[in-house]
Amino acid sequence: MQKIIAVIGSTGMLGIDVNAALRGSNVLIHNFNSVNLDITELNNVVDALTRVKPDYIVNCAAYTNVDLAEIEKEKADKVNHIGALNLVIASKEINARLIHMSTDYVFDGLKHEPYNENDDAIPLNEYGLSKLKGENAIKDSKASYIILRTQWLYGKNGKNFVNTILKLTDTKKLIEVVDDQFGSPTYTKDVAFAIRDLIANDKGNDGVYHLTDAGYASWYEFAAEIIKVFKRTNCAVVPVSSDKFVRPAKRPADSRLDCSKIKLDYKIELRNWKDALKKYCYDIGYFII
Ligand SMILES: NC(=O)c1ccc[n+]([C@@H]2O[C@H](COP(=O)([O-])OP(=O)(O)OC[C@H]3O[C@@H](n4cnc5c(N)ncnc54)[C@H](OP(=O)(O)O)[C@@H]3O)[C@@H](O)[C@H]2O)c1
Repeated sequence: MQKIIAVIGSTGMLGIDVNAALRGSNVLIHNFNSVNLDITELNNVVDALTRVKPDYIVNCAAYTNVDLAEIEKEKADKVNHIGALNLVIASKEINARLIHMSTDYVFDGLKHEPYNENDDAIPLNEYGLSKLKGENAIKDSKASYIILRTQWLYGKNGKNFVNTILKLTDTKKLIEVVDDQFGSPTYTKDVAFAIRDLIANDKGNDGVYHLTDAGYASWYEFAAEIIKVFKRTNCAVVPVSSDKFVRPAKRPADSRLDCSKIKLDYKIELRNWKDALKKYCYDIGYFII
């Protein structure tokens, strides 16, 4: 039977890829972004979703400017906390299942091993706090939900680390990148297809799942791999400590996520981040010989 899916945040980096991944399957998609549905307005959320009566609501909408969130904390809270609460209220009312995106930034990065879903979340910054409050609102609602925590996303349609490094290599002979923060670079397309598979093989389990490309890196290793894959070897990359780049929002030093639960429950396991990066390179029109 055809499923009806509401994609919230459909104009975002992940939302666009979710839309593309779902298009091949037997689904009817309704797209929402901040122009046609502000998720911070409960009445609008309930009205819009009641009109389309989705089986699934996939929430890719968020306030994602991590540094600016330190100043605009109310705005970040409104979208990431109240927005998530509004969506879960609506999803309960219309009996839809909510798939909600969250982040490794709910963790403080001090575990020194990959985090699993039962680890305590202690965010270091306002963005992480607003995302955690959103998660908690969903958990407390007793609605039907899956929270997917991912990290270090890059994709065709958004500001991201890969594109920043590529831009820098256009003009610089040397770039410095921090080598004391660790995570899993993750291609938005991989997350998008995992969401499609999750919906297709849904077992109805409620809970939090970690979902990233496999393997880990520091930002420095990630940058070095980008330079290698995109053949920008005219530019050298040098490892530096994060003390050298003080930013408004604190970042977790090691927020690697253990993704074994989603593999066990849903048989979803994403490819290695280096393979994903090569695929991204190909997808955006750089051909690897
Ligand atoms: N990027 C990462 O590295 C990363 C890492 C971990 C987790 N995540 C999570 O993954 C998800 C997707 O991230 P992304 O990088 O794809 O985000 P993004 O590119 O910044 O897109 C955000 C989307 O949210 C929409 N939006 C913002 N405020 C809204 C509002 N009040 N009402 C309705 N829609 C609103 C935007 O719509 P407009 O375009 O109309 O403004 C846009 O479609 C988010 O939950 C994020 O927290 C991201």
